[in-house]
Order: sequence, then C-alpha cells, then structure tokens
Amino acid sequence: MTDRITLRRPDDWHLHLRDGAMLAAVAPHSAGFGRAIIMPNLIPPVVTGTQAAAYRDRIMEALPHGAALQPQMTLYLTDATKAADIVAAFRGGVIRAVKLYPAGATTNSASGVTDFDRVQPVLEAMAEAGVTLCVHGEVTDPAVDIFDREAVFIDRVLDPLRRRTPELRVVMEHITTSEGVAYVRAGGDNLAATITTHHLVINRNAILAGGIRPHYYCLPVAKRESHRLALREAATGGEARFFLGTDSAPHTDAAKLQPCGCAGCFTAPNTLSILTHVFEDEGALDRLEGFTSINGAAFYRLPPNEDRIALVKRDTPAEYPTQIAAGGETVTVFDPGFPIYWHLED
Ligand code: DOR
Ligand code: ZN
Repeated sequence: MTDRITLRRPDDWHLHLRDGAMLAAVAPHSAGFGRAIIMPNLIPPVVTGTQAAAYRDRIMEALPHGAALQPQMTLYLTDATKAADIVAAFRGGVIRAVKLYPAGATTNSASGVTDFDRVQPVLEAMAEAGVTLCVHGEVTDPAVDIFDREAVFIDRVLDPLRRRTPELRVVMEHITTSEGVAYVRAGGDNLAATITTHHLVINRNAILAGGIRPHYYCLPVAKRESHRLALREAATGGEARFFLGTDSAPHTDAAKLQPCGCAGCFTAPNTLSILTHVFEDEGALDRLEGFTSINGAAFYRLPPNEDRIALVKRDTPAEYPTQIAAGGETVTVFDPGFPIYWHLED
C-alpha cells in the first residue's frame, strides 16, 4: 500500500484570495502552492494593470514569510476593456491571463461582459499576443435552467467565440458537466479546462437532499452524479488538457447562511488531501502529479515547478478545523466531514 507520495509542487490555476481581512485569513492556506491564477472579482474588480500590480503587492504582504506562492494576476474583462491595456500588462509581466465573466453569472460579476461583439477586437488582440482567456462558462439567460447553463454556454457563446477566434487560448474554468469534458477533449490545442476538487467529490444531492446545505453551493452548481463521474474520469485519466483550479472561494458564514446565500466553497486548507484521496480511490495516484503540477503549467507555457512536496497517509482520519477565523467572522472549510487521511509532510 502506498502511504507516501511526492509531487512536483502543485499549482492552483483558479483561486480567489479576496482582499483585506479575508485575504489575510485565507492566503496562508494557499501558500504551499507554486503558482496560482488569482481571480480579479474584487469590489471594485481588477480592471487595470496598475490595480493588478497593487493587488499582487497586498497578496505578497498577506503571505507568510517563505511562502512558495507566486500569484499570477488576471484582469477582469469588461465591455470597456482596451486591448492595448491588456497587451501592455501581459508583455510587462503584470498579468498571466484575462478573466471573462458573463455579466451577472456569479459573485461580483456585475461588471462582466454583456456584449460579446464589443469585446471581439480585444479577444483578437489577445490571441495575437498569446494572452490566455479564462472563461466562466455559464449563460445568464433566466430562461435557461441553472443545471443547463454550462452546456448551453458552450453552444451559444463559447463555440461561436472560438470559431471566430481560433488562435485564442482558452481555459474553460471549473467545468462541471460531461458536455464540458467532451467539448474540451475535442477542442484542439488552444483549449483546456480546470476542474475543482469539490466538483470531484460532490454532486447536487450534497446541496439539496435531506436539507439545504449552503456550504456546498457554488457556481457553476454541482450537477447530477453522471457528471461528477465524467469529471473524475477526466481529472484522473492523465489527459493533458485537464488540470487543477481549486476555485477556492471563501465567504463568511454570515454571507452564506442567509435567505440568498453566496456561491463558493472554501477548499484551500484541505484541497490536496482530498484530491489525493480521490486519485487513490480511482487507482490513479501516479496521475495526480500531472493534474496538479504539470498539465496546467504546460498549457500556460511555463516550466513545471522544480521543487517537490510530499503527502503521507495516516491510518486514521485526522481532526481538522471546520472553520477558520476571518476579521472577526468565520469561514467554513470544505468538506466538513470528509475523512482526511493524506497530509502534507512538514
Ligand atoms: O462559487 C463560486 N464562487 N463561483 C464563482 O464563479 C465565483 C466564486 C466567488 O467569487 O465567490
Ligand atoms: Zn472562481
């Protein structure tokens, strides 16, 4: 039985670190990753290179001394974004990618794209300069059922967009459906997808069966079991176009536990432990490193991290905090109740 594995240091290709007291509370939990793509959906959103550089400085201040994490900043695409600003921030080494939120799709997405024709020249300039577009792939049409919004987005928005701009490098973020898996598999070299830890572990029953559980609610919302199984196959199957983006998205318990609670699962503290468990269950521990540490870097045309981490397996699951403190409030850690056998070695 394997009870210790080493991995090149993992990267997190989709992470929310927030700002202020929340940033101070959550950043240490991602400090052991190598690179992390930092989501720009602050209030107000990160829309200029100057703002991205200042946000990066705040993140560096929030990280513990000696942290491995190298934040990879993103700009939030709006209808008003200028191509020249993106290209300058990219060429200047300030940003790694640009994030597309359809307006209204999720947390702090009100400034997102409302008119895809208007951003077309920006997408063309990004394709030309080699800037990756990270896409939140859900339509916002209220007539579309929330469980269908990813599949419909592929047909209505993403596929037409990629046909218009085939050279654009696109990461379909946090895919949650078998349609997403199939689309990315068939999509050629300029398309990849991140998969979260939580979408490998829960299906929609976790949110809705036997009582409503807001801590499992995120966007895109977890789908039925067949989709979770398709995601597990994609993540653990060794295909280079799928890689880890945790989408760790902390909200205070007060913000989640209310009549209209926020979307997001805070997975950073246990994410590698849970992922290792998932890969072990699938008999795929030998493919974990590809998913966490190699495939994403390759898509972003970066070398994999040279240093390594180790995870060790204990015989009995460990106790771990179900909440952390953040600015006088609490944030619940995913997954309260999931057995944690694998631990990062000190
Ligand atoms: O569940 C989510 N939370 N999905 C997103 O797309 C955004 C994120 C957040 O910022 O809270
Ligand atoms: Zn996200």
